[in-house]
Amino acid sequence: KTILVLNGPNLNLLGQRQPETYGRETLADVERICRAACAEGYAIELQQSNHEGQIIDWIHAARETTCGIVINPAAFTHTSVAILDALNTYDPPVIEVHISQVHKREAFRHHSYVSHRADGVIAGLGTEGYAAAVRRICQLGWTRPA
Ligand code: DQA
Repeated sequence: KTILVLNGPNLNLLGQRQPETYGRETLADVERICRAACAEGYAIELQQSNHEGQIIDWIHAARETTCGIVINPAAFTHTSVAILDALNTYDPPVIEVHISQVHKREAFRHHSYVSHRADGVIAGLGTEGYAAAVRRICQLGWTRPA
């Protein structure tokens, strides 16, 4: 059982990028945190892209092979109907994560297209949000219909 942890643009620079907002941990740390959070029998596949189409392709590929997606769409959160549409083709649980508390930041960060599909939304818990999202997907225990 595989959980896909998807990360959008600029998150390759996590740890270096605006550390006062996003902290000092890197994406490699996020991967470690997700592996530590997942229940026995689950595997983590972590991906990051700065390209919207690549994220959509990964969502499509995950349709038949994964039991949940944790997604931090980064700036695409606020712009991408295409990522929302891709997630609407995906049956297992989807949890949206934001490292920062987007609702106390600029108004343009308050709306999320992805939230129209997400089964859970986490914001402002730092990288701990990824761990909570992974734990939630394990707890939901989604299984593919026969
Ligand atoms: C983010 C919040 C977004 O508004 C921003 O564009 C990001 C990261 C977060 O994790 O807090 O790149 O998704």
